[in-house]
Amino acid sequence: MAVREIKKDVYYVGAIDWDRRLFDELIPLPDGTSYNAYLIKGSEKIALIDTVDPSKEHELIENLQKLEVEKIDYIIANHAEQDHSGTIPEILELYPEAKVVTNTRCKDFLKDLLLISEDRFVVVNDHETLSIGDKTLEFILAPWVHWPETMFTYLREDKILFTCDFLGSHLATSDLFITDETKVYEAAKRYYAEIMMPFRKIIKKHLEKIRDLEIETIAPSHGPIYNRPEFILNAYKEWVSDDVKNEVVIPYISMHGSTDKMVHYFIDALIERGITVKPFNLTKADIGELAMALVDAATIVIASPMVLAGAHPNIVCATYLVNALKPKLKFACVIGSYGWGGKMVKQIKEMLTNLKVEILEPVVVKGYPKEEDFKSLDMLADEIFKKHEELGLI
Ligand SMILES: Cc1cc2nc3c(=O)[nH]c(=O)nc-3n(C[C@H](O)[C@H](O)[C@H](O)COP(=O)(O)O)c2cc1C
Ligand SMILES: [Fe+2]
Ligand SMILES: [Fe+2]
Repeated sequence: MAVREIKKDVYYVGAIDWDRRLFDELIPLPDGTSYNAYLIKGSEKIALIDTVDPSKEHELIENLQKLEVEKIDYIIANHAEQDHSGTIPEILELYPEAKVVTNTRCKDFLKDLLLISEDRFVVVNDHETLSIGDKTLEFILAPWVHWPETMFTYLREDKILFTCDFLGSHLATSDLFITDETKVYEAAKRYYAEIMMPFRKIIKKHLEKIRDLEIETIAPSHGPIYNRPEFILNAYKEWVSDDVKNEVVIPYISMHGSTDKMVHYFIDALIERGITVKPFNLTKADIGELAMALVDAATIVIASPMVLAGAHPNIVCATYLVNALKPKLKFACVIGSYGWGGKMVKQIKEMLTNLKVEILEPVVVKGYPKEEDFKSLDMLADEIFKKHEELGLI
């Protein structure tokens, strides 16, 4: 609950969630997160950019009290997801003259999700501006940052771009501005991988759309503020590019050690061929780490034992997630072990419909791997090496 001034008359009034460890009941938050809200005092009107998660409502309200904010004219809603919009109803109640400024689509969501009434809205279009006296807000529609209603707000005079989820990071830190770029790079990449990677092509367009804006500061709604915008813009450019790296991601499970033996033999075979390997034992793995590895990798090898005539349920879950995240993988393969038979390979292949991958010949062995099975794994490693070489990755 610390109010801080970013630039003259522009304040951070959000909340840091140090203890949160799960988002959307799915995404691990190893470093917590923050819900950034910003108050802009124009010479004539006062605008609040986004709010906070309902669990932190009291912190936003205390921050506004600390700043002795007696009136809010506009609540700018860049995104309707509740971690940013959830406190809007409370603010509307506390500041009865306030209007919610947003685009049509976001308005519809806010009516459905938070039951805000029609008369509280001011609807804006792409590039429309709103004067608050000596400061001007420009709204830049950017649908599908990960929901269809997202937008950015550009504060012209101060050259600040408020991007909400876009370019943000789940990171609880007392730093208002980024100090440790390495740490934020990791957190922002994790966030991109989990939330924005499925919309990579659209994200690319958003980057182009803001390319000619003069931006001195990027103020997202999670994680620290960027006073060197090119740091995060360049990182995003790399992540959304069509380039893949000489990397193999291996999500795996083994109940009794056979698949595990295959995976560890295969890891060494790839390392010996100069290929970077990122194995994820799904009984222990953080799925955010798996998502991050998928941002750059050229190849995925899914390794599972046969269970009840199909892949292990945890592998099914991970495969579903991989497919939904739409990484730019080029090759996929299945390896594993079985006892008497089933449809694991077919099942996994059929789950990868979103990926534009070439499926390589699987290596599925009966029971514990034997000499000829290790040879098959060597051949698979050779094949992956050849494919990566052909793409110029090696
Ligand atoms: C709960 C369970 C269900 C299984 N269901 C099948 C099956 O439907 N078809 C099959 O071929 N093997 C089945 N098996 C046998 C395993 O696939 C086989 O033992 C395999 O070698 C296990 O590999 P792992 O050591 O990597 O766990 C099952 C094993 C267990 C424990
Ligand atoms: Fe969101
Ligand atoms: Fe968010």
